[in-house]
Amino acid sequence: MSAKDLHKESFTEETITKLEIFEKYLESWLPVAIESPFIKEVNICDFFSGPGKSVDGVKGSPLRVISVINKYYDRIIKQKLQINILFNEYIKKKYGQLCDCIKLEQEGLKRLESFLKIELFNKEFKELFNSKKTLLKNDFNLFFLDQSGVKHITEDVFLELIEFPKTDFMFFISSSSFKRFASDPSFQKHFRDINLQEISMTKQTEMHKLILQYYRGKIPRTSKVKLYPFTIKKGVNVYGLIFGTKHPLGVDKFLKIAWDTNELNGEANFDIDDDWEAKQGVLFGVRKLSKRERYEHELEKYIMSKKDISNIELFDYTLENGHIAAHTIEVLKRLKKNNKIEYEGHPCISYDKCYKKSELKHFKIKP
Ligand SMILES: C[S@@+](CC[C@H](N)C(=O)[O-])C[C@H]1O[C@@H](n2cnc3c(N)ncnc32)[C@H](O)[C@@H]1O
Repeated sequence: MSAKDLHKESFTEETITKLEIFEKYLESWLPVAIESPFIKEVNICDFFSGPGKSVDGVKGSPLRVISVINKYYDRIIKQKLQINILFNEYIKKKYGQLCDCIKLEQEGLKRLESFLKIELFNKEFKELFNSKKTLLKNDFNLFFLDQSGVKHITEDVFLELIEFPKTDFMFFISSSSFKRFASDPSFQKHFRDINLQEISMTKQTEMHKLILQYYRGKIPRTSKVKLYPFTIKKGVNVYGLIFGTKHPLGVDKFLKIAWDTNELNGEANFDIDDDWEAKQGVLFGVRKLSKRERYEHELEKYIMSKKDISNIELFDYTLENGHIAAHTIEVLKRLKKNNKIEYEGHPCISYDKCYKKSELKHFKIKP
């Protein structure tokens, strides 16, 4: 069950998709901290850093972190935000390359002076995580856990991660490996309670969603953490990212990136639900609805089952169902045009209106 070393060749398109999702999330997460009067310090932890870049110089996660920091350097200084970066790589040779790579960036980063601290580690992930977790626990953190296979985000690590109150995390997992290896003793050691029958009955392309459900099933009822997937298919293999946050703003930002990456389904780098077929029209006389159409249909039913609904309820419903505000707004506009609901002005379905400014708005459903 040895995972392929992605640093021996050029990064594939799929690796770049994964890294871009992480980079875009960091790019929208960091300004939240910069602008917040309550956040004075943040930690960005890249626990499986690799050497910094690909063999042919394409930016890996470490260089992507640095370039996002550089992008915001004047605002970081102005707001006096302390940024601590942790890079970690276990393999000695790659760790050496990582150190060299970061060293080359130091000159450009000098302008951030004492507002930036970069620490480099050559440690086994779990050992480093255990040594840092108490210190990091209550901070405002973003963790990127770009493991090669499956074995590092074990149940105990996951349960600890979701205990952190202000930490957003993104981890990579080779989901289709479960299909091939789940019954191996080495796998069973890490995933004792995984349902082997369910795995064998699940299509390869659905494996990442199944693994997402496995982790969701571990979340205690009292926890506010929400998990969202992005499936990445490469040939016959299926991998993916699992993103976790306790904050609706984090969910909103991640889902915008996911739908931006694939406007067909917002959750995969391919047509995971055959939505393209649905868009093409009638198949054997039956018109299959696309993911977005199914959502619009369900949302309309949900709204029409009520007498009155608020923008906050609608925004929460949107995120809960893995969609973005634009999808909900379109339904509301259509319902208004068709004289089914009543409201004045803009629908106000956004994090800003619903949570930051608490602008409550009501939509009246016509009998
Ligand atoms: C998928 S790669 C990460 C790629 C990286 N994010 C990039 O952009 O280049 C996973 C990395 O984790 C390292 N690694 C493997 N086992 C590890 C462990 N137990 N602790 C920390 N790093 C480990 C591997 O050497 C490899 O470089």
